[in-house]
Amino acid sequence: MAKQITDSVSWVGKVDWQLRKFHGEEFSTHRGTSFNSYLVRDEKVALIETVWTPFAGEFLEGLDKEVGLDAIDYVIMNHAEPDHSGAFAELMRRIPDVPVYCTKNCVKSLTGHYHGQWNLKTVKTGDTLSLGKRELVFIEAPMLHWPDTMMCYLTGDNILFSNDAFGQHLATESLYNDLVDECELLAEAMKYYANILTPFSKLVAGKLKQFGELNLPIDFICPSHGVVWRSDPMQIVNKYAEWAADYQENQVTIIYDTMWEGTRQMAEAIADGIRNDDKDLVVKVYNCATGDMNDIITEVFKSKGVLVGSPTFNRGMLASVAGILEEMRGLAFKNKKAASFGSYGWSGESPKAIAKRLDEAGFELVGEGLKVMWQPDDESVEKCKEFGKMFASALD
Ligand code: FEO
Repeated sequence: MAKQITDSVSWVGKVDWQLRKFHGEEFSTHRGTSFNSYLVRDEKVALIETVWTPFAGEFLEGLDKEVGLDAIDYVIMNHAEPDHSGAFAELMRRIPDVPVYCTKNCVKSLTGHYHGQWNLKTVKTGDTLSLGKRELVFIEAPMLHWPDTMMCYLTGDNILFSNDAFGQHLATESLYNDLVDECELLAEAMKYYANILTPFSKLVAGKLKQFGELNLPIDFICPSHGVVWRSDPMQIVNKYAEWAADYQENQVTIIYDTMWEGTRQMAEAIADGIRNDDKDLVVKVYNCATGDMNDIITEVFKSKGVLVGSPTFNRGMLASVAGILEEMRGLAFKNKKAASFGSYGWSGESPKAIAKRLDEAGFELVGEGLKVMWQPDDESVEKCKEFGKMFASALD
């Protein structure tokens, strides 16, 4: 059912309370999500984005009841990832001649996904589309987070339709940021940034600067997932500016997997050593085989230091540890220190192998890595505590 935002703008998307994995099995969505689509009614009617494929039928049915598909004059596709474009092909089968506004790169991604021919109109930053009393101003946002991404701004109502940026995977019937739990909202917004936008932080900072220079009044920010920011909408823009500037809190995160508890005991002794430092560091310890990868990545995002441990297994590390290290490499975190550790029985390659991966991922290594043979005894536990202390003292 549509939800009215202003006299001319309504939300016509889909709230998905059920979703627990997004991007295939890649991204955990503990609180569901929403696929936000918006309808602008002026002298002309514009539809901004659609919803994910499984909801295409109900979306089109609802839209038809709300406005009548034939009444749509323009379709705006800010981005072609299927969570935004899943109903696009069927919509265009029903209204084939309606012009579709998108970036040049979006022509490629729409065509690549849906293999059709439509009345596509490419736009660049600063191009406008008059809807009557209001106009849409297009703002390209390449690599935030796809090459095709753009945003658009509605004059008169002062609304920024920001696409994925400023979004969160948070299902809510309440629509607005001031009507949901603020802690949950910010946690989900940060998780979204940490896991999706971190590699593009420089571009985020540049786009925020460019946007600031346009000096556009903003009353609402309408992203494509989660809440509409209407209460102090610039708060999320300010958060993005903070997060894009190599964000860190006074935190250390220890990530490990373990076979017979030796590496777990090491992790906990290292944590003890860090806690005994006088820097009041927050220390968090996660088993990456049993913890949620995206939640742990969010903790890495918040940390100034990260320690990664695995027992030696087949002359290397456990697959769970290799997996999260690959994720950390891809996200290209900046300005973070790291070290490795692990227990072993006879050859003991894992700390060195982990350190190599951390180095390749752009972390600044502290020390050589610590290995302990068999189960840690009292002496080894002390060594782990000292290692933790040494790591903490190396942090700024
Ligand atoms: Fe919401 Fe890039 O998809």
